[in-house]
Amino acid sequence: MSDDAAPPPPNPFDDFVYPGYAYWFTHPDHLGLLAWLHYLEPAPASACRVLELGCGDGGNLLSLAQALPESRFVGVDLAGEPIYRGLALAGDLGLDNVDLRQADVRDLLAWPDDDLGSFDFIVAHGLFSWVPDDVREAVLAVIRRALAPNGVAVVSFNAYPGMHDYEALRHFMRFHSLTYAPEERVKGARDGGLWYAAQIATMAPEIKGALMQRLYTSLERSSDALIRHDYLAENEQSFWFTDFMERAQRHGLAFLTNAKPTVLRLAHFSPEHAELLRGVTDPIRQQQYMDFLANTRFRVVALCRAEARLERSADLGRFAGLALEDRAHTDVWAEELRDDEKVTLETPHGLVELSGRPLRIALSVLHAAAPRALTLEELLARTIPELARFGADDGLAANEDGRAQLGAWLTRELVAVWFQGLVHLWHEPPDLAAAVPERPQTGPLQRERARERATVPSLAHREEPLDALERAVLALCDGARTGVEIARELGERDVGEVLARLHRLAFFAPG
Ligand SMILES: C[S@@+](CC[C@H](N)C(=O)[O-])C[C@H]1O[C@@H](n2cnc3c(N)ncnc32)[C@H](O)[C@@H]1O
Repeated sequence: MSDDAAPPPPNPFDDFVYPGYAYWFTHPDHLGLLAWLHYLEPAPASACRVLELGCGDGGNLLSLAQALPESRFVGVDLAGEPIYRGLALAGDLGLDNVDLRQADVRDLLAWPDDDLGSFDFIVAHGLFSWVPDDVREAVLAVIRRALAPNGVAVVSFNAYPGMHDYEALRHFMRFHSLTYAPEERVKGARDGGLWYAAQIATMAPEIKGALMQRLYTSLERSSDALIRHDYLAENEQSFWFTDFMERAQRHGLAFLTNAKPTVLRLAHFSPEHAELLRGVTDPIRQQQYMDFLANTRFRVVALCRAEARLERSADLGRFAGLALEDRAHTDVWAEELRDDEKVTLETPHGLVELSGRPLRIALSVLHAAAPRALTLEELLARTIPELARFGADDGLAANEDGRAQLGAWLTRELVAVWFQGLVHLWHEPPDLAAAVPERPQTGPLQRERARERATVPSLAHREEPLDALERAVLALCDGARTGVEIARELGERDVGEVLARLHRLAFFAPG
């Protein structure tokens, strides 16, 4: 560096810990499945290469690296401290398929091809909206350069129009926090933001009451790290979807789909809105109209190379080889519910009503197998006799044609509930215990996280909030102790229920 070169600006991620988490929608099995449904054939999750830009402390990559030992994971982050923490943990866990490097995304473009490499999946989560514009350009350029021909990249960003709702509050918090000493700024921003939201809700209840109440609750629940790195971020910028896609297209990238199946599909709109949206044939304009109607404020977009040959119409035949995992977490055909016309489920994506008996029976069969996934064929083979048993098959289960008809009908229904988050689809589901093993065993990463954090990534790469007892139990699930021994060690009478819940949440490997 020459004497007069300006020192790099301090990176807030070096001195204010932002813990990294497992993000299920970045799992290569899920991204690969989204691509495969559009007739792309990326590498299988069990033998792929993944790059994460702005990987922080590797919270996402370490969980994937443990789950997929034959795949390789490279993470890059500008901040040295989180990289150092991530490398230390990877070393302790003996993970030799993950490489975390301190580097600026902008500098990756100068790396020779052999150093950068080619990746089947590239993740840039929580980065694009929070960096200067030249870093955004570099993110897209790196993706274009390093993405394998059938690869998938996932990029998230704050979006308009929903982010407009937040802007006054965020500006207030930033403005007000500057009256505090640096070490008090996060607290000052939170207290100030809560005060401001409450004032506006009271002073303008008819115009902004409900909105400010919602922002108040969301702010109350935000961690200090989120307040520092999101509300007080120096470079925060939201985007209209069309503007984001224009940039991505300039870099030779195309819209594949939304990474989360539970948002922004025609299935999520009222029949009248879906009809109007169906009339917009350009997928990008259609998505933008969806954002207007849904007031989207955060997007997780899956991209592919512009020259990839995509097929947008969904062929139900494609689903035949997939496995389904229960995410309803309720037996919707439990004996006490059977006389009810319909079951209403409260899900993280809103209320879902289930009325058809065949679908409820299929979901109940899936629930009985949870947390293990069943292939669609297995599920249908187990469900169809149950339909006949309950007289819910319209007499179709008796012959082959009828069974095929039932199978096709159920497949359509099961895909529809995938969009509602009631099932998760896998190409290669994780290998999980069928029941609580005599000596329960979770992964070394899970035991480590359980000792230090309120949320722990499951073996299915989902960050699960656990209470203190669940975490204490999980930390001891090393395959050497029985449930009774774990209870004794913790001074508890019985931990059977805790083990059952941890089992349901996909924390145990087969015994
Ligand atoms: C909000 S955090 C997100 C971390 C992680 N991806 C997640 O979602 O949990 C953003 C990360 O991007 C990193 N970052 C910011 N500018 C960068 C750059 N120019 N090159 C590489 N990483 C950068 C920061 O250091 C920080 O770790």
